[in-house]
Amino acid sequence: MTSSRSSIHGEWSSRLAFVLAATGSAVGLGNIWKFPYITGENGGGAFVLVYLLCIACIGIPIMMAEVMLGRRGRQSPINTMRTLASEMGQSRYWCYLGWLGMLAGFLILSYYSVIAGWALAYVFRTGSGVFVNVTADGAASIFGRFIADPEKLLAWHTLFIVMTMFVVSRGVTQGLEKAVRLLMPALFVLLIILVGYAMNLGEFSQGIHFLFDFDFSRLTADSVLTAMGHAFFTLSLGMGAIMIYGSYLPKDASIAKTSITVALMDTVVALLAGMAIFPLVFANALEPGAGPGLIFQTLPIVFGHMPAGTFFGTLFFILLVFAAWTSAISLIEPTVAWLVENRGHSRIYAATVAGIITWLMGLLTVFSFNIGEDIKPLAFIAKFADSTMFDLLDYLTSNIMLPLGGLLMAIFVGWLMKKETSMAELDIHDHLHVGYRVWLFLVKFIAPLAVIIVFLEVTGIIDALASLF
Ligand code: TRP
Repeated sequence: MTSSRSSIHGEWSSRLAFVLAATGSAVGLGNIWKFPYITGENGGGAFVLVYLLCIACIGIPIMMAEVMLGRRGRQSPINTMRTLASEMGQSRYWCYLGWLGMLAGFLILSYYSVIAGWALAYVFRTGSGVFVNVTADGAASIFGRFIADPEKLLAWHTLFIVMTMFVVSRGVTQGLEKAVRLLMPALFVLLIILVGYAMNLGEFSQGIHFLFDFDFSRLTADSVLTAMGHAFFTLSLGMGAIMIYGSYLPKDASIAKTSITVALMDTVVALLAGMAIFPLVFANALEPGAGPGLIFQTLPIVFGHMPAGTFFGTLFFILLVFAAWTSAISLIEPTVAWLVENRGHSRIYAATVAGIITWLMGLLTVFSFNIGEDIKPLAFIAKFADSTMFDLLDYLTSNIMLPLGGLLMAIFVGWLMKKETSMAELDIHDHLHVGYRVWLFLVKFIAPLAVIIVFLEVTGIIDALASLF
């Protein structure tokens, strides 16, 4: 039996529209900015392998669970969880899963928008030709000077928030589809061109070895957590973004096919970005672990030297801004939908309020790169001794809040939701269906256990227990 609820916020015009919107949400700074730099910081190959495993065994099953919850509930995550919990005879406290997601959305968007602001700034820098014939040192110092200026970061952050809230206030089921349909393929083609360029560098194979040689000695509990957290981050899982998009999904669309398509596209984009960037890093004797500035310090070098580099570079950063834009929208949509449902606000009002709050929180990140770079709020914990406010926000959201949200979703769908419900949503009529059983096994056991084990490992609890024996 499928549910006959419909969403007051509208519905995607087709299955394809959902795939486009969900891909728009998934593909973003996470793929092009974050994946390369955290791969660099965590030593490459083995980290990439753990990340891919997490996508396959945790990410895809949880994505299906999250879409399912959304389509079943047809409301903002808070109200969806409240409705479904009461239908399943479970505690009403499940609505706090929606609250956790809403908070994570604010926190992530607050720094996401600052980094998207960097990409915006780089559209104009590349366009004005400052990178023509630039050296590696030159590109690094241009970037260094840029982030040292809080006023500039603030201005670009502000612009990006305004852009995001503008689209959100008009409703995501309109307009968004068209943008994604055109721009995502363009981004894809441009990445392939960049990889092609990297292939002609002498260091291509060194870059590929760095990405795909599995050296497990470099893997620590924390890098496993980072890989897992990034699987959630890059697929937009665990906070309700995919849930709210699922709530606009037409009833007859296949949840399994759409989820797998989105995850595949997202992964391909991330790997292409890595393949374009690491050869460059080695060709210019740069440090793979350079941190959040990695793509802003490496890509300008290519654009400064390739034929028509100013054109391609400008185009690249424009597409990166669009990728970030379609992701940012999904971070705030659950909150806006909730404000409209429960407070009866207009979308414009809801988006404005959410925008102001996010803008203010973004100041923490803006200052983390300049006047506040010495503020280390958790300096008394050895592990976080060097972490700036931005580092902590990122750690808290990607490594803790998203996996926790995903864990709870997996438990709800795997253990508390009736089997008939999940079978109906997946359009499966046979208990013995192999795909269904694999999925259920992953959602019930593998995904939750993996998250719990990684959490325990990082907190040292497993080591402490092991030392007892
Ligand atoms: N997935 C996006 C990226 O890779 C970021 C993002 C959008 C996100 N919505 C999300 C991350 C929800 C976590 C949760 O850039």
